[in-house]
Order: sequence, then C-alpha cells, then structure tokens
Amino acid sequence: MRIYSVGYRHIDCAQIYGNEKEIGSMLKKLFEEGVVKREDLWITSKLWNTDHAPEDVPLALDRTLKDLQLDYVDLYLIHWPTSMKKGSVGFNPENLVQPNIPNTWKAMEALYDSGKARAIGVSNFSTKKLADLLAIARVPPAVNQVECHPSWQQDKLQAFCNSKGVHLTGYSPLGSPGTTYFKSDVLKHPIINMVAEKLGKTPAQVALRWGLQMGHSVLPKSTNETRIKENFDVSGWSIPEDFLAKFSEIQQARLLRGTTFVHETYGAYKSVEELWDGEI
Ligand code: A2P
Repeated sequence: MRIYSVGYRHIDCAQIYGNEKEIGSMLKKLFEEGVVKREDLWITSKLWNTDHAPEDVPLALDRTLKDLQLDYVDLYLIHWPTSMKKGSVGFNPENLVQPNIPNTWKAMEALYDSGKARAIGVSNFSTKKLADLLAIARVPPAVNQVECHPSWQQDKLQAFCNSKGVHLTGYSPLGSPGTTYFKSDVLKHPIINMVAEKLGKTPAQVALRWGLQMGHSVLPKSTNETRIKENFDVSGWSIPEDFLAKFSEIQQARLLRGTTFVHETYGAYKSVEELWDGEI
C-alpha cells in the first residue's frame, strides 16, 4: 500500500470493505514515524449486517480494533438497517433476516459506555428509520452516513438531522464516477461544470465544497495521487450564494438503491420503497 502525505484526517472504514488490516498496518507506521498522532485522526468503522445480534456486536468491534491496531474508534456505525444470517458470506438473498435495530442499538450503546467507540451512529437510515431509533435510544445516534451529492441532496433527511442534532456524513460525494453498477453523471452535470469553470475549480472540488457548505462531512475516495490532492483542496474558498441556489435545479436520483437487501420472501424489505421508506 502506498501512503500519500496529503493531510486527510478522517478515515472511513468498515469491516465489509476487507481492508482494515492494511489500514491498521499503515496507521501503525504513521504513528511510529510521528507523522500523525492518534488523537488527531477521526476513524470510523461499521458493524456488518451479519453481526447484528447483541452478543456479536462487541466481538465485531473487537475484530475491527484488532485489525486496525487501535484501542478505540472515534465512531462506530450500524452499516445498514438490514440484517443477515450470522456467519453468512456474500449477498445471497436467502441470508437476509429480520432486523431488530433496538436490540442491536442497545449493544452499540454498551460499546459507547465502554469507550471502545467514542461515538455511535448509523448508516443508510431513512428519515423514518432514524426517527424510530431516536425514539428509543438512550444514547442518540451521533451520525447518519448516507449517499449524498449534488444529484442526491437529501434535503428532507438533512433538515431532520439538523432538527435532532444528528450529523450527516455523505458517502459517494462525487457520485461515485466509474462505478459499473449504476450510471452516474454528477461530475458531468452542466451546473457543476458551469460553477467549476466560473470559480476556476474542478467539478469534483465543487461537488465536495457543496457538501461542506451544506454542513456535511464528505468522504471522497481516490487511488490517484493527483486526485487525492485535488479533493483535499476544498477549504479557503467557497461557492457564492447565487451559484449555490442553482444546485436546487439539479435533477435528483438515488444511485445506490440497496436492491441487494430487498426481497419478496427474505428479510424485512420487500421493495426499495420500503427499504428507504419512500425516499427514493
Ligand atoms: P480514482 O480512484 O481513479 O481517482 P466517490 O468518492 O463519490 O465514491 O467516487 C469515487 C470515484 O471517483 C473513484 O472511482 C475515483 O477514481 C473517482 N474520483 C476521485 N476523485 C476524483 C476527481 N477529483 N475527479 C474525478 N474522479 C474522481
């Protein structure tokens, strides 16, 4: 693994990404070399669908901490509001089972109490699912990490999060260009390109800056050094109000619909509408 010393401090991990061991070795090296201190990083990880049973939640975090070579994460998220059979591998619909988010959340709260997760939250929760969780939570979720970019702005969820003090983190903030399983044109959108041209920035920088100005944290992903640097250069300038207003003209479409977690027979959600409670 190559390390580019650009200055990112927020590292978004998940057990299902399959690279926490590599990230752990990289972090160890950076700490040993004194490049960065643990307390200057914000490290998130996520509980996978197969580990929702309350007794499995602490074991899953322990595995993640071992792989990351850390004694705490800054944030631990329930990755999806969908559960899968313990130990199951892959995305076979027969592995989908009924979730019990209140039970899983109690186990997440215990991790918060233990200090191994300094904050806890959720990911891919609709406004309704977040509201249902807030209604029963002793420790309210600090974050909901969801798809968010100029072509899926999440206005309703954002307003709800603001009203409840839940921070919204946006994944796919560039609209995941290059992804093969959905067609994404966010960086090609004429409004983004017009704003980029007028400000002398790239479309990616405009998309990221928009997210920051909306109050989100953004998680751009790149394996290319030039683009990693480009995506970091989003402070010290801003999109003026009149350009910002143009973003409301952008047609909205969810890219990651979560069809893998939807099935007629198995699991909790028979349709994409049910999974997202109509927010599609
Ligand atoms: P690459 O790794 O070749 O840079 P997202 O973060 O929205 O999921 O998008 C990730 C995708 O966007 C990756 O395929 C990445 O490809 C590409 N990407 C990252 N930064 C940029 C950029 N500045 N301009 C164009 N594409 C980018």
